[in-house]
Amino acid sequence: MHILETNRLTIRVFSSDDLDAFAAIEADPDVMRFFASGPRSRETAARAIAWYRTLQEQRGHSFWAVVHKANGRLIGLCGLIPQRVGGVDEIEVAYRLDQSHWGQGFATEAATAVCKWGFEHLDVPRLISIIDPGNIASIRVAEKNGMRPVDQAEYDGKVCHIYAVTRDTEH
Ligand SMILES: CC(C)(COP(=O)(O)OP(=O)(O)OC[C@H]1O[C@@H](n2cnc3c(N)ncnc32)[C@H](O)[C@@H]1OP(=O)(O)O)[C@@H](O)C(=O)NCCC(=O)NCCS
Repeated sequence: MHILETNRLTIRVFSSDDLDAFAAIEADPDVMRFFASGPRSRETAARAIAWYRTLQEQRGHSFWAVVHKANGRLIGLCGLIPQRVGGVDEIEVAYRLDQSHWGQGFATEAATAVCKWGFEHLDVPRLISIIDPGNIASIRVAEKNGMRPVDQAEYDGKVCHIYAVTRDTEH
């Protein structure tokens, strides 16, 4: 199922056919550096795709597949996922990309489009990103998404920055 398009990217619902490409991304220690789990197995990647599909059916949004239009390759994921932060239900804009595609503006392109989709389709006052303070690339993507640090919270076993953008913030 197609969700949205940007200049260079198609963003769509994950399918089980994405497993090979997705499992390779999840197995890369550099991609998973800021996640407590570290690199993930193919089996875990398969379970994740199943969960993303369930989330999509239940809520109409999820982690989505990011596909490079030029060659049709899956280059990562980006999406809107439910999070509970400090006892409050929030929606997070989250992203991770295959390392060979870093530094070319793809995460910014995907995240800003997904953020816009979120405000158009979901009745939420704000969207957040939960970011390890050492993850400079992710902080830059959040800033380019109009987000600012608003809080800190324990997440994934460590204290993270909570970045947020409100509906009325200019993009
Ligand atoms: C975070 C991530 C998605 C960024 O992807 P990307 O496509 O390289 O990001 P962009 O090209 O859109 O770059 C966004 C900004 O970050 C900067 N940036 C990218 N990588 C950087 C790095 N390693 N160190 C410092 N800045 C970096 C870019 O220069 C750009 O800022 P600028 O426009 O001011 O120059 C990618 O690094 C990734 O997948 N990391 C692993 C997973 C992860 O940590 N996800 C976030 C969890 S909160």
